[in-house]
Amino acid sequence: MNDDDDSDSNSHSKMMKEHNVDLKDADVPMQELNLPKVLKPDKQTKHDVYYTVIAQKGKTDFHDGGKLTKTLGYNGSYLGPVLNLKRGQTVHIKEVNHLDEKTTFHWHGAIISGKADGGPHEPVKPGKTKKISFKVRQPAATLWFHPHPSGTTGKQVYKGLAGLIYIHDRKSKCLSLPDNYGVDDFPVVVQDRTFDKNNQLNYKKDYNADRTLGKNLMVNGTLNPYINVTTRYVRLRLLNGSNTRNYNFYLNHHQKMIKIAGDGSFLAKPVKIKKLQLSPGERAEVIVDTHKLNVGSNLQLKTGGMKALTMKLNQQRDNLTSLPDKLSDRKALKVPKKNVNHEKLVLSGMSNMVRINGKKYNPDRIDIHAKRNQQQIWTIENKKEMMMNMIHPFHLHGVQFRIISINGKKPSKSQRGFLDTITLNPGDKYKISFRFEEKGLYMYHCHNLEHEENGMMGQVLVE
Ligand code: C2O
Ligand code: CU
Repeated sequence: MNDDDDSDSNSHSKMMKEHNVDLKDADVPMQELNLPKVLKPDKQTKHDVYYTVIAQKGKTDFHDGGKLTKTLGYNGSYLGPVLNLKRGQTVHIKEVNHLDEKTTFHWHGAIISGKADGGPHEPVKPGKTKKISFKVRQPAATLWFHPHPSGTTGKQVYKGLAGLIYIHDRKSKCLSLPDNYGVDDFPVVVQDRTFDKNNQLNYKKDYNADRTLGKNLMVNGTLNPYINVTTRYVRLRLLNGSNTRNYNFYLNHHQKMIKIAGDGSFLAKPVKIKKLQLSPGERAEVIVDTHKLNVGSNLQLKTGGMKALTMKLNQQRDNLTSLPDKLSDRKALKVPKKNVNHEKLVLSGMSNMVRINGKKYNPDRIDIHAKRNQQQIWTIENKKEMMMNMIHPFHLHGVQFRIISINGKKPSKSQRGFLDTITLNPGDKYKISFRFEEKGLYMYHCHNLEHEENGMMGQVLVE
């Protein structure tokens, strides 16, 4: 197994006037990590699977018997269930809006037609239902879904609307990786939230045009969470489901993590990493190997000195003899030179001045025209400015792309899979390669949800 070549510099440049909220330990005893339910299909045939996903209001107990918090969730009171999909299957989803306001159902990371993708142009009104179908044509990965309505995405996500999608394929079934849900394979949806003195989430109060931040870390809606580890290898499927906060995850006891997957696919090989930067919208799958640690000790997943998740090492039963050397047969990236469509996107500004190519989002303007299946090379740049330097997580809908270069250099081994979101530090320039496999209208935007709402979004029409 290789150590990551660590070629990505995590330059954290000085930022002016940046709003900040320090994380604090939550004032609750350790609680066992919530495991989202695995959603049962309404119906299943050989090639088709049918689900109903309901956006609804609810009340959630985050404080171990304290006052309940008013929240939103999918098929439950906070967050959503896991949808297990198989490559090759056609998925039919009935999207039901039981909220008092419009919402959309966006399938972040899915290769899906623009009509079903659930961007701001596809609202579902209160009390209404929308039916979508798509064929799962992408490899095994951990994706997610969340609302995307114009003007209220940040609020609806903050209140709890987000869920996970696991895509399985024939290869992922055969790989010797932990895959026993809730036993050695855990969903880890990390969010920061502030609870007011009545235990309520107050988006308006916590809102900041650049950085809507919370005081407490939560995983799967659990404050101060722990899991019982009973096996040598543990798989964590991490999602940064926060509005703005970036995480730099690491383990205590000087342990390394083994990264096996990014947003949209496995890596070619497992890569040992010390740190994992994850900005809003990004996912990563890591394996934690506990064999050098004593039974009875606690291993912690931390970020910025704070603990995100405690792993209580209760037993060390071998669940696998070893990890695979190879995770996928994907070839090294070769980009054709002919018939390529080049685009350049420059991200700039902060707070109400955020822009892409100098423009704010306009639903009536198509920013980019593209052809289905045409090779695309896009350059995305986070422009360095005197006063306004921020990290912008850039996300493109409807595709999975690969990185050609970061600031002229090849991406590190841990960044070489398929991705749908990239973290741009001030001054960073990424070149990405992909094709749109489906038609329709797609968004690209900063996944700092308040930047997105302030207009850091554009539209590409694929015909
Ligand atoms: Cu995760 Cu445009 O969204
Ligand atoms: Cu941004």
